[in-house]
Amino acid sequence: MAGRKGPPYTVRPDPLRYLSDELDALKAQGLYRRLRILDGEQKARTSFDHRAVVNLSSNNYLGLTTHPKLRERAMEATRTLGVGSGSVRTIAGTMRIHMELERKLADFKRTEATVVFQSGFTANAGTVSSILGKDDFIVSDELNHASIIDGARLSRATIKVFPHRDAKAAGAIIQELPRDRRRLIITDGVFGSNGRGTVDHFGLHGRVDIQVGTLSKAIGALGGYVAGSEALIEFLHHRARPFLFSTSHPPAVAAACLAAIDVLESEPELIARLWDNTRFFKSGLQTLGFNTGVSESPITPVIVGDAALAMKLSDALFQEGVFAQGIGFPTVARDRARVRTIVTATHTRDELQFALDCFGRVGRSLGVI
Ligand SMILES: Cc1ncc(COP(=O)(O)O)c(C=O)c1O
Repeated sequence: MAGRKGPPYTVRPDPLRYLSDELDALKAQGLYRRLRILDGEQKARTSFDHRAVVNLSSNNYLGLTTHPKLRERAMEATRTLGVGSGSVRTIAGTMRIHMELERKLADFKRTEATVVFQSGFTANAGTVSSILGKDDFIVSDELNHASIIDGARLSRATIKVFPHRDAKAAGAIIQELPRDRRRLIITDGVFGSNGRGTVDHFGLHGRVDIQVGTLSKAIGALGGYVAGSEALIEFLHHRARPFLFSTSHPPAVAAACLAAIDVLESEPELIARLWDNTRFFKSGLQTLGFNTGVSESPITPVIVGDAALAMKLSDALFQEGVFAQGIGFPTVARDRARVRTIVTATHTRDELQFALDCFGRVGRSLGVI
């Protein structure tokens, strides 16, 4: 109001000043990044920051984020059931469609039961933290995802780390731990046949007690699930904190996930195309002379070492029409900075060849190859 004096603000030092200092340090180390803004749908060829690009940065492995069947089921669920669940699962937020999804996932994973969480992150963190306590042991792959690490820390169990994919080392650690304590081995997995995951891929049914998966990537929507025995799932209903203390999915999310499982079964060619594209792109990068590490998945790193160089490579590719994210510490070790590429089933050969040509040109101009 005109003439009215404002409140008597006193000038005080900014208590969050240290955050700006830390951001400045990130900039100095080449680790600072701006968020890229996706202008439209999450697709293989799309637009970020108003620039048309071949998109090598999403986890939309099968292209399901825009699949007509998922879209239709999600819209129908919104029309008939509304936009939100309105409660946590343990009070009023368990809708029939949530139960339908959990039943279908259990059949798909060939386990007794499943429970769905809001995300893969909360599924991992909520499960690991609730099933173990301070007297127990966790034997964890050194490259396990942050959600597993956080869950392990929250459990207060003793954490023993084994080298990446070294089952022998994990076994040796287990042997040395007291047998009267609970001992949990945890490792991340890979894609299996029909998207059923690692246990199915290696024929390990009945030998892995707890399986966790995400619904946010290949499934194209959002969420995470735990698959296992009835007792495990009922225990999580009572003790997993994200299940108890955070609102459940909107019906559209559950509906899209239901449709996605149908699509996995009715369109197996999507997975075949994903692996075809993976082989083509990975060998293309290797032929160009890039260091692509040891990945066997659709995610192929282009390892350059220095974080500033990785960001530079990513920026230069973006200017040429390819979006591949630069990744540095703490996501990867300090001297292992990289540009991460992810192909999907919906990339065409032309799009992938275009991306390879750009990688070759930019990689040579920056002295990476
Ligand atoms: C290995 C792994 N586990 C868990 C997650 C978390 O899944 P979500 O994105 O559904 O939270 C991710 C991805 O973000 C991941 O890569």
